[in-house]
Order: sequence, then C-alpha cells, then structure tokens
Amino acid sequence: MITEQQTNTDTAKIPILHALAGNSNETPPIWLMRQAGRYLSEYRQIRKDAGGFLNMCYSPSLASEVTLQPIRRFNFDAAIIFSDILVIPHAMGVGLDYINGEGPVLEKITSDERIDKLKIDNILPHLEPVFEALRKTKKELPEKTALVGFAGAPWTVATYMVEGGGSKQFAEVKTLAYNNPVLFERLINILVDSTITYLCAQVEAGAQVLQIFDSWAAVLADDGSFEKWCIEPIAKIVSGVKEKYPNIPIIGFPKGAGLRYEQFIHKTGIDGVGIDYSVPLKFAADKLQPHVCVQGNMDPLLLASDKNMAVKEAKRIISILGDGPFIFNLGHGIVPHTPIEHVQALIKTVRG
Ligand code: CP3
Repeated sequence: MITEQQTNTDTAKIPILHALAGNSNETPPIWLMRQAGRYLSEYRQIRKDAGGFLNMCYSPSLASEVTLQPIRRFNFDAAIIFSDILVIPHAMGVGLDYINGEGPVLEKITSDERIDKLKIDNILPHLEPVFEALRKTKKELPEKTALVGFAGAPWTVATYMVEGGGSKQFAEVKTLAYNNPVLFERLINILVDSTITYLCAQVEAGAQVLQIFDSWAAVLADDGSFEKWCIEPIAKIVSGVKEKYPNIPIIGFPKGAGLRYEQFIHKTGIDGVGIDYSVPLKFAADKLQPHVCVQGNMDPLLLASDKNMAVKEAKRIISILGDGPFIFNLGHGIVPHTPIEHVQALIKTVRG
C-alpha cells in the first residue's frame, strides 16, 4: 500500500515513482510489458548474434543494451531489465532451454527428492550478471526514467517447473497442488525465499521499482487456491522485500484475477497493480485506484492490429484512469508482430 514516507522530493522528478507514491501526473507515464523484444529490429539483430536467449540474459552488456533499446527509440518512462522469470529455477540448477517457436522447456520438478536438491544458495552468484546489467543500465538512463526489476510470482514459476514448460490446461501443476499440498507448498516456499533474495539484490543493484508477474493467476480456482498460491506467496514476498527496503514500490500483476483483483490489492500490500485487458476500467477506477496505483491495460493485440482503434482506446483508458495514480501500459506483453508505427502513435496519444 502507498505509504507517506514515499512521497519525498525525489519521486516528484520521476513520473512512475510519483504515480506509485499515490499521485496523479499531468501526463500519464508509459512503458510496455515486454518492451525489450522481438518487435524491435535492433533486438532481433542482437538476438541473432547472441547464440541463444539465455546467453543474452547472462551477458551484462547485451542485457543492458536491449534494455536500453526501447528507451532510445521511444523514451519510455521506465526501463525493465532484460531477463526472464525462469532464471530463478535455472539458478537453482533446473535444466532450462528456450526452443524457437515453442518457448521454454524445463526439467520437471515434481518429487521431494528433486526439491531437496534445489540449490537455493546458488541464486546470488548465478544471477550476478543480472545485477551487473542493472548497474550498467542505471548509469546510462535519463534521470526521469525508472529502472524496473522483476521476478515471476511463485505460482507462475512453479507452473513452468512442474509442467516442464508452458501449459494450456495446467493439469499437472493443479493436480499436484490438490493431491500433495505439502510438497507443493515446500516448492512455493522455496520460490518465495529465493524471490525475496533475488528482488532485494536487484534493488541493491539499482532497481527503483519491482514488478511481480503472476501471469497464470487466472487458472487458480476460488476454492482457496487463489488465496493460497497467488495471494499468500506474493504477500510474503512484499513483506520480505519491504522489511529490508521499506520504500521500494512494488507492482503486482495477477493476470486474469477478475473480481479477485480487489482481494489481491488489499491482502498483498503492493503499491501498484497491473490490470490485464479484461478488467473493466470503471471497476479499476472505483475499487482499485483509491487504494493503489493502477497500471494498464490495452489489449496488446489491439495495439498490433488497428492503429486508429488503439489510439481511441488509449484516450478512453486515460479518460477513466488518468486523474488518479496511473501508469499507462498494456494488459499483457507486447506481441512480436506489433508495427513500430503503432507504438509511436500510442506514445504520441498518451503524451498528448
Ligand atoms: O522487456 C521486458 O519486459 C523484459 C524482459 C522479459 C522477458 N520475459 C524477456 C523474454 C520479461 C519481463 C519476461 C517475463 C516473463 N517470461 C513472463 C511474465 C510475463 C508474461 O509475458 O506473462 C513469462 C510467463 C515468461 C516466460 C517466458 N519467457 C516464455 C513463456 C517465453 C516464450 C514466449 C515468447 O514470448 O517467446 C519466454 C522467452 C522470452 N522472454 C523472450 C523475451 C524477449 C523471447 C525470447 C526470444 O527472443 O526468442
């Protein structure tokens, strides 16, 4: 939640921090989830030469370079450090590969014996290149541009670890959580602890905002599962990070949480909430924005499809959310076939 100690003079100079401290900006700040990525030709060029996605993540100079690309091109109000949510399991010794066109493939983690072998102490040394990339990037950024660090939420990261990759039905991870909640909770708790360690080290390296991506929150049932596997772990992470860094603003993105966005903001203690494209703007304005900064929520496929409709929709979003604490963003990550010209038109509209 927004605390008074965050409203200091520094935050006023950085529009995203100003919004996350509970204030409105005359011009809404804007950045886009997945803004460093394949819709940019300069990203594709580096990706082609890097010899693998993970090589980019673990090269401080390449990661920093692609983090800065969208800032140079569009002058966004935030730079999100280039990495991936799956570097946490990778750091703990879980086999991970990114197959072109298929996405991530992981070694499946489903037994107590395998959970015992997760290398929790390896997090900080393994992820040192990410911290170095943050330090490098911070030096290059304009003062008004906030540096965003991130991690996946335990539930979303666990779905990849249990399913061994992406999933459509989430049958394996949900079955494990229902049949063996003790084992599943052990895995979630390990992810909570390692995520606190990882996020604190990102703050140490220069991150000014943190975002927690719970991309698969929607699939959790309302039989207690959403509370147990989405809200509780994120609440623990927020309090763990804030114990060390009380002033760091944290954005939660429980994609597809629906009506449960309300519970989510009240029980996790986050400062900002990322709303996906299905969230009605009036609900966000009435029920969420009085309590936290709202970030969102244009459909990335609208932005990729029809420039004029996207411009119109941007105006509608700003007309409903722009008077309160608000950060313009998409309702999920930008898609690779988005025309650059559409992004330019969007920014021009938001900046009036
Ligand atoms: O610009 C940014 O937002 C920073 C970088 C970033 C990436 N992944 C780079 C990436 C961030 C914040 C993420 C988060 C992430 N990774 C999430 C949560 C956000 C979301 O989209 O829901 C998830 C679920 C992942 C896991 C992941 N990584 C998947 C499913 C995939 C394959 C799908 C795809 O888009 O290709 C990745 C790979 C990945 N992560 C790419 C990028 C730029 C594409 C890799 C490539 O260049 O081939």
